[in-house]
Amino acid sequence: MKGLVLSGGKGTRLYPLTYTKAKQLIPVANKPVLFRVIEAIRDAGITEIGIVVGDTAAEVKEAVGRGGRWGVNITYIHQSAPAGLAHAVKESREFLGDDRFVMFLGDNCIEGGISPLIEQFGRSDWNCQIVLTRVNDASQFGVAELDEDGKILRLVEKPKEPKSDLALVGIYMFDNTIWEAIEHIKPSWRGELEITDAIQYLVDHNCRVFPYIHRGWWIDTGKKMDMLDANRLVLEEIEHKIEGFVDKDSQITGKVTVEKGAEVINSVIRGPAIIGEHTRIVNTYIGPFTAIFHHSEIEDSEIEHSIVLENSSIKSIPFRIEDSLIGRNVKIHRSPIKPKAYKLMLGDNSDVGIL
Ligand code: G1P
Repeated sequence: MKGLVLSGGKGTRLYPLTYTKAKQLIPVANKPVLFRVIEAIRDAGITEIGIVVGDTAAEVKEAVGRGGRWGVNITYIHQSAPAGLAHAVKESREFLGDDRFVMFLGDNCIEGGISPLIEQFGRSDWNCQIVLTRVNDASQFGVAELDEDGKILRLVEKPKEPKSDLALVGIYMFDNTIWEAIEHIKPSWRGELEITDAIQYLVDHNCRVFPYIHRGWWIDTGKKMDMLDANRLVLEEIEHKIEGFVDKDSQITGKVTVEKGAEVINSVIRGPAIIGEHTRIVNTYIGPFTAIFHHSEIEDSEIEHSIVLENSSIKSIPFRIEDSLIGRNVKIHRSPIKPKAYKLMLGDNSDVGIL
């Protein structure tokens, strides 16, 4: 069985962060979502993984490499245009051949435990398995209608009036019947070849397509609040350890990770939280659900329920920072130079909330 990960897309809802960084590489609990996806596939015993890339190909390749660190082989597949999920699969034909495969969307974050399901599909003779989960607003997703026996009746991509609350999670398993299905579908109203339509084709042609209903959490990390939710849930799930330095004047409570080379001086950290490699936390309060990535510095400040990426510094901020997603190389500090005013240099589409 092979793995296929989709990691194209512009990530427009995460501008300005995604002007310079692929959205799949933004870390939750200090690990890029894309790395978690690769690990879930590896844990199902799959070693041949293709990653479909688009405009952000260079940085995805640089971050992921050839896969050695996970014990897998990575092949990159360039999608010629962002023309839909089924189009991405079509352009991966050479890599996939006639093998069974699992496809994962590279920005989906799911509670652990999906790997045995993938392994089981690999050994079965089913044509396709989809993963569904109950959501509040199904109209933003592909939606499945099941009959009383749990058989799939219909799949609709982003219906205005969803007939059920079962959304298609971005994890799909196929055998080679998918190739015929993709040949027969037409672009949707949004001009894309939809994988949802290809699966509907399999259902209509009496293929064995089975739904699996996932009962844990699942987040499609497209927007800031989704990233913060995923960060909160993953911080609760992972094992924590203190490998960096914590001085005797600091107080650490709850599940907290301090990574190698990090320093915590005269500070209070209430977990779940993670402090990245070579990051310095000085005279600071770090509240629950916060992830500070590598090589950053926080001094004389308070921060909670937030993500900070690498090489950023936050110093002497008089109010607590909450619900924030702060990019790379960002500086937030008090300015002694008059006039006493907010002095900002923000990227296009930045979003700043002040008191
Ligand atoms: C895609 C699929 C949709 C699925 C969703 C899951 O949506 O088309 O069926 O529910 O991923 O993340 P898109 O991200 O293209 O809007």
